[in-house]
Amino acid sequence: MIPSPFMLPSHSQLSALLRHRRSIKPVDLDHSRDVDRSLLSQILEDATWAPSHGMTEPWKFHLFTAESRQQLAAQMQEAYRESTPPAEFREDKLRKMGENPLLAPVVIACVMERNGGTKIPEIEEIEAVACALQNLQLSATAAGLGCYWSSGLVLDAPGFRTWLGIRAEDRCVGLIYLGWPRPDLNWPRSVRKPVDTKMVWH
Ligand SMILES: Cc1cc2nc3c(=O)[nH]c(=O)nc-3n(C[C@H](O)[C@H](O)[C@H](O)COP(=O)(O)O)c2cc1C
Repeated sequence: MIPSPFMLPSHSQLSALLRHRRSIKPVDLDHSRDVDRSLLSQILEDATWAPSHGMTEPWKFHLFTAESRQQLAAQMQEAYRESTPPAEFREDKLRKMGENPLLAPVVIACVMERNGGTKIPEIEEIEAVACALQNLQLSATAAGLGCYWSSGLVLDAPGFRTWLGIRAEDRCVGLIYLGWPRPDLNWPRSVRKPVDTKMVWH
């Protein structure tokens, strides 16, 4: 359904939502409170309204809740051990990978899945998934949820890719940690550089 203009948020409401969204880390989520599947579906459907060149819709969402988060945590730790050179290995990072998925009620492994051949360049398929993930984060924020996009080399580790069933031409672009914010959380503040430092008038 195409919403008529009077159903749309005003420009200033949308602007406020964009500025309100913050990365909320798993430790700041209420891990005792689940997210309803219907709400999750709505948020993911909002994500799919992102643009994609040629309408390839190259996103796939792997959802981890309840016990399956333990498998995800174990696989991430395994991938970190497998793919980190000894000089860069950090015990605290390994521990966090085991803990983070259990602190968030929902973890979504977001995959760029090519389904239209190779006509569209890979970068454009990744860009489309990034658009979808921003939609996801904004929709979650509007619902009052907290979320955070995590990336890292672990997602490209061969063992992790095989476990998730990622084909050679596809890529896991991030994990989205999602949940209700802790009731006592002070919503984080952030700043951006003045926009005129990012503008080049011709
Ligand atoms: C593609 C992408 C990957 C990110 N990966 C990480 C990450 O691995 N670890 C992390 O702490 N934050 C990650 N972030 C979140 C950024 O750190 C965060 O957006 C930035 O600090 C600005 O904060 P804000 O989201 O609250 O505005 C990522 C964000 C993007 C867009």
